Amino acid sequence: MTYKFGIDEVMTKITVLRDEFRHIHDDNPIEHLGSRLKSIDSILAKARRKGIPLTPEGVRENMFDVAGVRVTCSFVSDIYRVRDVLVGQRDLTVLEERDYIAHPKGNGYKSLHLIVQVPVFLSDRVEDVVVEIQLRTIAMDFWASLEHKIYYKYQRDVPGHLTDALRLAADVAATLDTTMERIHDEVRGLDGGPEPAETAETVATPRETLEAIMRTAQVTDEAFHDRRREG
Ligand code: GTP
Ligand code: MG
Repeated sequence: MTYKFGIDEVMTKITVLRDEFRHIHDDNPIEHLGSRLKSIDSILAKARRKGIPLTPEGVRENMFDVAGVRVTCSFVSDIYRVRDVLVGQRDLTVLEERDYIAHPKGNGYKSLHLIVQVPVFLSDRVEDVVVEIQLRTIAMDFWASLEHKIYYKYQRDVPGHLTDALRLAADVAATLDTTMERIHDEVRGLDGGPEPAETAETVATPRETLEAIMRTAQVTDEAFHDRRREG
C-alpha cells in the first residue's frame, strides 16, 4: 500500500507541473503520464532472477521498481526540463539517475530513468518510498513498447535480423526526435520565442533530415528483406 501512496505522491507532483505549464506557460511538455504497481508475480519472478531475499526488507532495499511512473514528453529537451524541476523539489531525493538518452543501451533503448525517494505521511509514521520514474519521448516510447513485445515473444532470445532492424529503427526514431525539435524551435522563433541555438548553416534543415530518414528507412527495409531471405 505504501508503494501505491508513493506513486500517488509522484503522480500529483507531475500533474501539478503539467497543469501549471499548460495554464501559465501555455506550453505542455508532457504528452502522457502513466503508472504501474509491480504485480506480486513480477516481484517474485524478479526476486528469483536477481537473487533478492523474499522479505519485505529484501524487496525494499534491493528492488527499486515496485512503484513505477512513466512520463512521455513531446521533445527531448522537455525530458530534461521536467527532470530538473522534479529534482529541485525539496521533498524528493534522487537515489540514482540512469541516462539512456546520452548513453543508449546496446539494443537501442533510450529513456531517462530516475530512482527517487518520496516521504509518505501515514497516521503514525512517515515512510520514504522508492519510485522509478521513466522519462521518454513519444518516439522512444513507441520503440520501447514494440521492443518489449518482441523481447517477450521470443522469450528474450530475439533473432539477429530483428535486433539489427530494431537498432536501426531506434536510430530513425532518434533522428525524428531531433527533427521535430528543430521544427518546433523554428516555429517558436517565429512566435518571438527564443531562437534555435544552432545556426542554419551548421545543421541540416528539417527537410534534409527527413529525406535522410526516408533513405535510411528504405535501406533498412531492403536489408531486412535480404536477411530474411537468407534465413
Ligand atoms: P530491470 O530488472 O528490468 O528493472 O532492469 P534494471 O534494474 O537493470 O534497470 P534498467 O534501468 O535497465 O531498466 C529498468 C526498466 O526500464 C525496465 O524494467 C523496463 O521498463 C525499462 N527498460 C530497460 N531496458 C529496456 C529495453 O531494452 N527495452 C525496453 N522495452 N524497456 C527497457
Ligand atoms: Mg524493471
